[in-house]
Amino acid sequence: YDYDLLVVGSANADLVIGVERRPAAGETVLGGDLAVHPGGKGANQAVAAARLGAATALLARVGDDGHGRLLIDSLRTAGVDTAGVLVGGAPTGVALITVDPSGDNSIVVSPGANGRLTPEDVRAADGLLRTSRVVSTQLEIPLETVVEVVRSLPEGGRLVLNPSPPRPLPAEVLAACDPLIVNEHEAKVILGDSAAGDTPEDWARRLLAEGPRSVVVTLGAEGALVAETRTETERRTDESGAGVGGAVGGGVDVEVTRVASVRVDAVDTTGAGDAFTAALAWRLGTGATLAEAAGYAARVGAAAVTRRGAQESFPTGAEVEAL
Ligand code: RIB
Ligand code: NA
Repeated sequence: YDYDLLVVGSANADLVIGVERRPAAGETVLGGDLAVHPGGKGANQAVAAARLGAATALLARVGDDGHGRLLIDSLRTAGVDTAGVLVGGAPTGVALITVDPSGDNSIVVSPGANGRLTPEDVRAADGLLRTSRVVSTQLEIPLETVVEVVRSLPEGGRLVLNPSPPRPLPAEVLAACDPLIVNEHEAKVILGDSAAGDTPEDWARRLLAEGPRSVVVTLGAEGALVAETRTETERRTDESGAGVGGAVGGGVDVEVTRVASVRVDAVDTTGAGDAFTAALAWRLGTGATLAEAAGYAARVGAAAVTRRGAQESFPTGAEVEAL
């Protein structure tokens, strides 16, 4: 493999304003100074993985403009291979972000060039897909492009999907996820209204029943839940040559494991979910179990919320160890 991780996804310029509170409809509030950060869920994942030490490539599209150059610069500085970052077709995607005093954000995204990343672009990047251990994607690019990623996965390829921003997913996409990574909001959109009264563990089980090979439900400061069928856990153990005695049998028993996070003071949660996903995807490619990978990813995500911005806030491997 040439790459530990190939990210297929969005790249946005994040236009960020700190606010005391968000305006209601028809209301104007004054905020702090405008900051422009490199962001976008795809570019964020790529930068997060590269900063941790993963050999990382990004397939994305930016505009031929200053925002696009800001993004390519940030990616290259982090060590991401940008040969798959296509330029032109529309302005670079923009995210309008407000961050409140508790570090929580609200985001409006104008996809711009991200909306022009086509299935054809994926087919043209076949070489990247074949030489990457793990492929990771999100939903700030067209769904048909995500479907093409699923169809283009090489034999034995592993796909990690964070369906953000969430929308109902075709069975073909769900079945390819290993894992599907969702937060509470994303879980509820994918499961529909009936999920309202359920616990996070219920979401994990119900999502797994929708077809993914494994599921991760992120719970912010509470860590994460990882879920896979017992048979899947055993199959992987067998493959790794470790062997398991006393197989449980071909049942569909689901194993849900809680993974702890570390307590930190949140400054800005923007991009923390992307850093979590990237770290988890990378660790899986190195042979970690889902629970191990999620435990590491939770620390990466925690480090990311202690600093402002998305990409600039992501930790190095040494910073994660120090946490
Ligand atoms: O997940 C955080 C990202 O969402 C931001 O960087 C912004 O660009 C939006 O895409
Ligand atoms: Na951050």
